[in-house]
Amino acid sequence: MQRSKIAGIGYYVPKNIFTNEDLKKYMDTSDEWIQERTGIKERRYADRSGETTTTMGVEAAKIAIERAGITPQDIDFIVFATLSPDYFFPGCGVLLQRALQMKEIGALDVRNQCSGFVYALSVADQFIKTGMYKNILVVGSEKHSFGLDFSTRGRNVSVIFGDGAGAVVLQPTDLSTGQGILSTHLHSDGSSAEILAMYNPGTHANHWLPQPVANFDDAEIGEMFMSHAMIDEAQNFPNMDGPAVFKKAIVKMPEVVEEALAANGLTTADINMLIPHQANLRIAQFVQHKLKLRDDQVHNNIQKYGNTTAASVPIALCEAWEAGKIKKGDLVCLAAFGSGFTWAGALIRW
Ligand SMILES: CC(C)(COP(=O)(O)OP(=O)(O)OC[C@H]1O[C@@H](n2cnc3c(N)ncnc32)[C@H](O)[C@@H]1OP(=O)(O)O)[C@@H](O)C(=O)NCCC(=O)NCCS
Repeated sequence: MQRSKIAGIGYYVPKNIFTNEDLKKYMDTSDEWIQERTGIKERRYADRSGETTTTMGVEAAKIAIERAGITPQDIDFIVFATLSPDYFFPGCGVLLQRALQMKEIGALDVRNQCSGFVYALSVADQFIKTGMYKNILVVGSEKHSFGLDFSTRGRNVSVIFGDGAGAVVLQPTDLSTGQGILSTHLHSDGSSAEILAMYNPGTHANHWLPQPVANFDDAEIGEMFMSHAMIDEAQNFPNMDGPAVFKKAIVKMPEVVEEALAANGLTTADINMLIPHQANLRIAQFVQHKLKLRDDQVHNNIQKYGNTTAASVPIALCEAWEAGKIKKGDLVCLAAFGSGFTWAGALIRW
């Protein structure tokens, strides 16, 4: 049996900086409110004419592939995590395969929102451990800026999210090196699926919603997926009960870290670097406090990028590594929580 190791890592964020002051042009909000509640000062928005979830993923992937010392043609499997795909279908994995002119390899899309990258990493890890693949590209990328309600109605959601992408290349490594992904831990609780969700377009037919979001009874057969009424009522934007998300996240994120440590006979004192999903600086601080970690054991960058969902963990991981905060032999812990609810953790010996 072998382990998988991160052989290359990269990230990409768009050049366009959107500050809290810029948001004030569209909605009733303030820099003070946003910073106090979320820690976010600014975020990046994709270039409107050219950048997509896939193209940002491609840029991050190119760096990760080069740092792994291989070429796109050496990649034998793609796992692409996003909640903001270029198309409803097909997924971004095949678009990335095309853009990088890869071989006719498998391309899998993961729809696990904020925990998507850790889920994707876990899937890739299993394929490496069984020996099925040798060079797997794992990508997390999001273009939120196209799908947010920038009016005051949507301000509790739209101020939080930003665009960007991160990627890693996983390769096998011998157990004797001690290096690599030690374990991954995946969880879900669908009882709260509608608390953080985008309902339309979709096929839900109002089955589970607390309040109907579209009048399907009166709709013509061709209007049930996306109609003018849905757009008029802003039903094509994400909904979030922020306080409910907050309460669950501050319990489940530390829990999955403890679970990962226990599975490997380790304690929080052994962690050199925790990369928490950048949901909200206050959530990350709660997690740090609960686990009694020092500031130098945690890397946060939400102040600059906002919450980039599936991209947040690989961007923060790459940034911490580039800054020299993660060195060979270090114990790195990833922890993510998001819509679903789903949450996940991973422990890596760098
Ligand atoms: C969204 C979040 C920042 C809101 O903070 P909060 O302290 O819970 O605030 P509430 O939602 O209770 O709203 C408090 C008030 O601020 C207002 N408000 C919401 N967004 C605002 C904004 N961008 N600017 C100014 N005021 C805003 C609300 O309308 C409400 O006003 P009211 O008291 O007059 O009704 C917070 O709940 C949070 O971060 N939750 C987790 C979200 C998250 O991480 N999501 C990603 C999951 S991975």
